This record gives sequence, structure tokens and C-alpha cells, in this order.
Amino acid sequence: MLNRRHFIQASLAALASAGVLPLGAAASVQTAADPNPPVPNLPRLTAPTPDGITVVWAVAGPSTGWVEFGESAGLGQIAHGAVDGLRPFHGRVLSVRVRGLRAGAKIFYRTVTVPVSFPNQYKMSRGTAVVSPTFSFTLPGAGAAAKIAVWNDTHQQDDALQAVQKLTDEFAPELLVWNGDLVADQYMHETDLVSAVLGVGRHRDPASTRPMLFARGNHDVRGAYARQLPEYLPRPLEYGYQNLLRIGPVGIIVLDTGEDKEGPQFYADLGEWANYREAQKGWLKSAVAQPLFAEAPHKLVFCHIPLRWKKPEDVGAWCPDGDARWSPVLARAGVRAVISGHTHGFWHDAPTAAHPFHQIIGGGPQTKSTAWSPTPATVVKIEADEKTLSLEVVEAASRQNLLSLELSS
Ligand SMILES: [Fe+2]
Repeated sequence: MLNRRHFIQASLAALASAGVLPLGAAASVQTAADPNPPVPNLPRLTAPTPDGITVVWAVAGPSTGWVEFGESAGLGQIAHGAVDGLRPFHGRVLSVRVRGLRAGAKIFYRTVTVPVSFPNQYKMSRGTAVVSPTFSFTLPGAGAAAKIAVWNDTHQQDDALQAVQKLTDEFAPELLVWNGDLVADQYMHETDLVSAVLGVGRHRDPASTRPMLFARGNHDVRGAYARQLPEYLPRPLEYGYQNLLRIGPVGIIVLDTGEDKEGPQFYADLGEWANYREAQKGWLKSAVAQPLFAEAPHKLVFCHIPLRWKKPEDVGAWCPDGDARWSPVLARAGVRAVISGHTHGFWHDAPTAAHPFHQIIGGGPQTKSTAWSPTPATVVKIEADEKTLSLEVVEAASRQNLLSLELSS
């Protein structure tokens, strides 16, 4: 730990002398020995777009912070994360958007966290800056090949999270898709957001070095604190949790199916999902026409609730409203597969005339088959080159293979 203190001081001194850090930040470094220097929480990379990404990390108390980044380990640039003129200040989480990146570039970055005491409106002061180790990741962009891992319905279950993470680390994809239902049940307290989204103290977080693409699940919209989710998982676009991304030869659309319990009889009538899906339909029509997607050799869609299900009479098991609004657009756009979760039971349906794309559904939140998790937790492993996209659904703990598909471009 003593070395860590020296490392932080040396790093900040070097940055200050290089003119990278603002004077105030460098001046806040204390020289007194600290027997228990704080260790920063691991950052998560989320909301990737072709030219940016958001870094979020948990903090132990009221703090500000920023991200130092660059295309070499020397970093050299700073993202302060100001929104409408205000730099970040929060007691549980910091979120900094890093803009102006090159698609496909390897990016090095680290976080700097500064506790701020704010006892009253006349007195604010900064504490000691804490610098994280330097991490690196590759911003998704067009290229010859891609590897993607998909999780769904982990519901804060440690066994499942450890199993899917172990398999994912072995697979070593450049992108993780977390296909909804992160929270155990609902976001009833703000601490539910910290534990479900940031995973503090629960499991090692791979998303410090691997961008995470989030598709919101129906449980992720439940509870009073679901409205604070964008502080922890910022939206990639101006509104909504839909997204468009290109990674290697794969064009990706993320859609937000919202809630599966709709109407005035549910949750005090605080949802408005059909309007939201209709707004996404307008966005979707323009998104599929963008060259980023339209020219991709392979086209995939991720959404939490499937757009079809083996028992159509199961109300809530699939999203007929999303299917009616979106599937015709997806069919015209040449989408090859829609990958979902939600039912906690694996299912694969081959393309049909009305739905000329595969529907694939991953497993549930437990590592053995149970009533809550008829199929154990799965990872969908996707590997693509220009000609072929291979897709496997694998039970994370047992490694049983549930599906192998090869799609040609
Ligand atoms: Fe679920």
C-alpha cells in the first residue's frame, strides 16, 4: 500500500508537470502518510457508440472525478464529464462520458476520484485524489472479425455471475452484451443500483477492459429507484436505451422492450411502454439505414423480451407489441437473429416467412435447472468474420452446448 501511495503521488506529479491535470487537482494531493489509502472501485465501460463511451464507477462518499485517456499508456487527455456546466458530484457513483474517440482504436484510461466535503453552501473542499490503475479497451468499430459474449437475466445471483464471467474470460470477447434483468427483483433502494449495476464487492468486473452494451430488462424498470438507472448506466443516445453499434463485420441494434406488465392495473400505472416502443420504431427506421448497420455483413438485434415465443398464449412471456411495431422493419433490414432473455428458459426458433430471422433466448439466473431458472445460466458466444457468423448458446457452469448456428453473410 505504501508503494501505491508513492505511485499515486508520482503519477499526479508527472501529470501535473505535463500540464495534463488542472492545478487544483494536483494541489489537492496530500503528502502526509496515509496508512489506509483508498482503493478506487473498478470502473465499468458502458454506452459505447462509434465515437465515445461512458466510464462509471462507485465511490464511497460525496466525490468528484474525471477520466484521463489517450491512444497510448501516456494518456494525455482528460474528460471532465460536465453536464450542463456542472462537473460530476455524487455520493455513490461517478459517470464521465469520453467523447471524440476513433472507432476501432485501442484506448488507455484511468479514473481519478476526489472526495469533496460540502458541509454547507459557504464551504466546499477537496480531499486527496485517488488514481486508478491504467486500463485499456478497444472501442468497437468496423473490422475483419469480432467476438461478442451475451449474458441475460443474471438477477444478482453470485453463482450465475461467476459462471458466466469465467466462461466469458476464457472466450475473451471484445464486447459484452448484458441483455437485461440485472437487478434481483426491483430497484427499491439506491444501494440496489450500486450492487446490481456496479457489482461492488460481488464479483470481479470484466467491463473495465471490455465495453458493455446494455439492453434494459423488465425488472430493470421496476422500483422507485429505476428512475435513477441512467445515473449508473447512462443512455448512449439522447433518449431511450436503444442503441446502434458496429463491431467488426457485425451490425448491432439494441431495442428496449420495457415492461411485460402493462396497463392501469400494474405498478400504479406509472409506465407508458407502447408510446416508448413507437418512438423507438421511428429511431429504428433511420438506424437500419445508416451505413454502419446497412453495410454490415451480419446484422443482429438484442432485446430483453423476445419478439416471439413457443407458446404465444403466454401473456408476458414475449412482446407482441414490440413484434408488431419492429419486426417488419427488422425483416426489411435483413436482420439475421434476435437474441433475448426474459423467459429463463432456452429457446430457438428458426426463421419463418413472417419473421425471417432467428429468435434465440438464453437461460435463467441459476446454475442448475430450477423452477425459477428452467435453463441454467447461459452465455451466447458469437464469433464473426466477413463471411461467417457462428453463434453458440452454452450453459455457463456445465458447459453443455444448447445451440450451434452458422450464418453466412
Ligand atoms: Fe429475468
